Amino acid sequence: VSAVLLDGRFLSQQVETYIRTRVTDLHARTKVTPGLAVILVGENPASKAYVAKKSRVAKSLGFQTFDHTVSATTTQEALLELIQQLNADSKVHGILLQLPLPPGLEQEVLLDAIDPRKDVDGLHPLSQGLLARGSGVLRPCTPVGSMLLIDLAYALQSNKNLTEDFQFPKNLPSVDLSGKTALVVGRSVLVGKPMVHLLLERNATVTLAHSRTKNLPELCGNTDILVAAIGRPEFIQGKWLSPKAIVIDVGINRLNDGRLVGDVEFSVAKDVCAAITPVPGGVGQMTVAMLMMNTVLACEKLLNSKEVL
Ligand SMILES: NC(=O)c1ccc[n+]([C@@H]2O[C@H](COP(=O)([O-])OP(=O)(O)OC[C@H]3O[C@@H](n4cnc5c(N)ncnc54)[C@H](OP(=O)(O)O)[C@@H]3O)[C@@H](O)[C@H]2O)c1
Repeated sequence: VSAVLLDGRFLSQQVETYIRTRVTDLHARTKVTPGLAVILVGENPASKAYVAKKSRVAKSLGFQTFDHTVSATTTQEALLELIQQLNADSKVHGILLQLPLPPGLEQEVLLDAIDPRKDVDGLHPLSQGLLARGSGVLRPCTPVGSMLLIDLAYALQSNKNLTEDFQFPKNLPSVDLSGKTALVVGRSVLVGKPMVHLLLERNATVTLAHSRTKNLPELCGNTDILVAAIGRPEFIQGKWLSPKAIVIDVGINRLNDGRLVGDVEFSVAKDVCAAITPVPGGVGQMTVAMLMMNTVLACEKLLNSKEVL
């Protein structure tokens, strides 16, 4: 392996250590514990596993958790009522509606019903609008976690022994990407589009590719940073990449033999590019950590707004 492995498991543990101290401080000051409500609709096995993981990590960080498992035959009205209850519940600071929803439910209407102050997934139109404007606090978890992995790549370039005695956020400065090129493949509201805004915020020159893009191999070969969020196993071939590339593989694809792979051909890419995230153990770990960070941020902000009132 010639590429530096960007270890999401390691970095998420450091972020979680930091969150624990913030939760302890918050509780000492206010006697309030961050509360995360997670709504799971139906029996999708991947969604069940994600929700169980989020709940487990939230508990391990000292949060209060409120798990709502709802039958796939539920109605839009019943879900809206549940969201309204959680909006009104002062013990709940973050609300997560696990996606995808079963057919028949209107995802956007339900996401729009979440109080934007509790929108820890960053998918409410207000959160997305603020992000596009270059402000806002609650930003989508996967792109924010991906940015931290890019910061890790640059930090490791200047200090190979960084992970010994590493402390978050002290040892992970936000890198200025002036003069760097970034290619995002995939234009979803969940990953691709918010990723573009975060990269622009850091002054990268950004290209957004999607299924209608014609010259993908060429674009991949010319970029300093590549973020792949496509949902097609090993679609980005290792030989397309350049030795300078930092590769953030957001894809999670399960093969027929049960293995999980990303959107990038890791077995080849790891000997070609400069740095790469593994799948699993990369972006997925960071997504969960950033959900926890957003819950703390939402809690702190809600408490502050009450103090002002
Ligand atoms: N690690 C994590 O925590 C995490 C979080 C979220 C998602 N994911 C994973 O990331 C992947 C993407 O998720 P998503 O929600 O963003 O998916 P999505 O909503 O299905 O979007 C996929 C995007 O990929 C583009 N695309 C499809 N085929 C392409 C091709 N041949 N060439 C170039 N672009 C192509 C699509 O283009 P069009 O718009 O033109 O159709 C679309 O914009 C999935 O594997 C998902 O499981 C992981």
